[in-house]
Order: sequence, then structure tokens, then C-alpha cells
Amino acid sequence: MNGSDFEYLATLLRNRAGIVLGEDKTYLLETRLMAVARKHGLSAPDQIPCVLRNGCPELEADVIEAMTTNETLFFRDRHPFDALQRDILPELITLREQSRCLRIWSAACSTGQESYSIAMLIRDFFPLLSTWQLEIVATDISPLVLNRARDGLYTNFEVQRGLPVQLLVRHFEQTQDMWRIRSELRRMVTFREFNLLDDPVGLGTFDIIFCRNVLLYFDVQTKRTILERMSQRLRTGGALLLGASETVYGISDAWVPDQQLRAVYRRNARQLLGSIERLMKSAAPETRLQWRAT
Ligand SMILES: C[S@@+](CC[C@H](N)C(=O)[O-])C[C@H]1O[C@@H](n2cnc3c(N)ncnc32)[C@H](O)[C@@H]1O
Repeated sequence: MNGSDFEYLATLLRNRAGIVLGEDKTYLLETRLMAVARKHGLSAPDQIPCVLRNGCPELEADVIEAMTTNETLFFRDRHPFDALQRDILPELITLREQSRCLRIWSAACSTGQESYSIAMLIRDFFPLLSTWQLEIVATDISPLVLNRARDGLYTNFEVQRGLPVQLLVRHFEQTQDMWRIRSELRRMVTFREFNLLDDPVGLGTFDIIFCRNVLLYFDVQTKRTILERMSQRLRTGGALLLGASETVYGISDAWVPDQQLRAVYRRNARQLLGSIERLMKSAAPETRLQWRAT
């Protein structure tokens, strides 16, 4: 693939999905696009840019799909789920005693292992929440992985990765040589297509946001925008969980690390106050007076 074709595809991936592709990734691009080229009747990946330049939305979607990395597993890294069980959920249950409503967002959920790990944990350790209004919203850019997640059907290899055997027996049923997560757990999760480059305002607000192992594919400006938008979607007392190799340091001051919990972030109260002050300054004088009084 020549330099200008690579550049064209790299720009498309950055603009449409936020994915940054270094020049050393030509080989990766060509390998992953081999099957896409075949599917569209092209003899090689280097024919793809020419077809795309003439406009072909199906091919464009397949290129983006092929270039996303969907690697995931149940209870990935374990410690975020320990933090959820021991600290984050018990705190939020106290805080939300009145409203009895909890919303969790698994952003970039891939084939659903992260969202179903959350659902299993809630089922096993927080039976009280079955009487609450609880929603796990799981989103991804890829319709293909979302369909797999909705099916909740996993191979022997997938259920052997991160899932203790007791949980496999309790929460899955065997169908031929696959394992399907039980319907009561599937019902706890709503899967939706959502591109993290878009404003998540339409998804509502959340108490907990899992945004793990996806920011690492984006450039700093994209990470900053996503983190700032997410901070506006988090309810008071909530938490953001990032992947083990991801951080907010040097990227966004909308978040501060939780002093006790690894890879857990809280909304930066100082930054929040600044935003409220700015809002107040721009508001009409009578509204300002009302705010001060409350
Ligand atoms: C490596 S998986 C992470 C899955 C899971 N969060 C975990 O930690 O195991 C990254 C996921 O991010 C999704 N993704 C990539 N770019 C995206 C974007 N712009 N918006 C939403 N999802 C995106 C991919 O489709 C993929 O399923």
C-alpha cells in the first residue's frame, strides 16, 4: 500500500472512530483489511482507498470494524471489580437510598464480557438492588460486537478467560459447544451503538462509568474531549474506571484519582466549582441571586 493510500485510511479512521494509526502500522492495516477486500470483491487491500474515495458507506463501516481491537475478557484485571464490590457500590447504595436508582455505563463494551461481569457481581453480592431501578448501559462503535454481546453466547475459550468456574455454572447454560449467559442477566444490560467521538448527552447521566482499554487508541485531544464529556455525565458521588494502562494525568483536570482505589477516578470538585462559577457569571442577575439563595 503506498503512502498516500495509507494516509487516506489513517485519516478516515481518525475522523470516524478516533483511532490513531502510526506509520509503522501499515502491515497491521493490510493484514486486517485482507478479508474486507475479499468481502467487497477486491483482489487486495490497496484497492480499498480508491473505492472509498468514490463513496461506499458499507465498505467504510467494514474498514472501521476491522480496525477496532475487540480484545476483552470476563473480570478483566480483577481489581476494578473488587473496587466495585467493596467500595463503589456500597457507597452509592447509601448515597442513593432515597432515589433507589443506579445507572452504570460500560463504554466500549466489545462483546459484552465487561457488562456481564458487572451484572453477575450485582446479582451475587447486591440482592437488594433487584428491587431498585438498575440499568447497565453498554455501548460500542461496532454493530458486530454488539450483536455478539446481545446474544451472550461465548466459546469454551472465552469462558475460560477470567470467569471462575462457579460463576460459569451459576450464570450460564451450555448450548452444544457454547455457553449462553442466562436470560435474567442478559435482561440487566441494554446494548446500544455509540461512537465515543459523539456527545453522550443523549445517554443520560450515570453513577459509574467503565471506560476501559479504549482511550489508549485515541490522541490526547480526543481523550480530553471524551473525559470532559464523561465528567458532565457523572452524578455526584460517582466513579470513572479506566484501564490499567490509561490515565487522566496530563490530559484532563476534570478528574482526580481516587486516593484509595487503583484506576478509579472521581470528578474534580475544584474544576466543577469553576464551571458553576463561570455559569453563574454568564447568567442573568436575577438568576444569580436565586442561585445564591439556594
Ligand atoms: C479493547 S476493547 C475494550 C473492551 C472492554 N472495555 C475491556 O476493557 O475489556 C475496545 C473496544 O472499543 C471499541 N471502540 C473503538 N473505537 C471506538 C469509538 N470511537 N467509540 C466507541 N467504541 C469504540 C471497539 O469496537 C472495541 O470493542
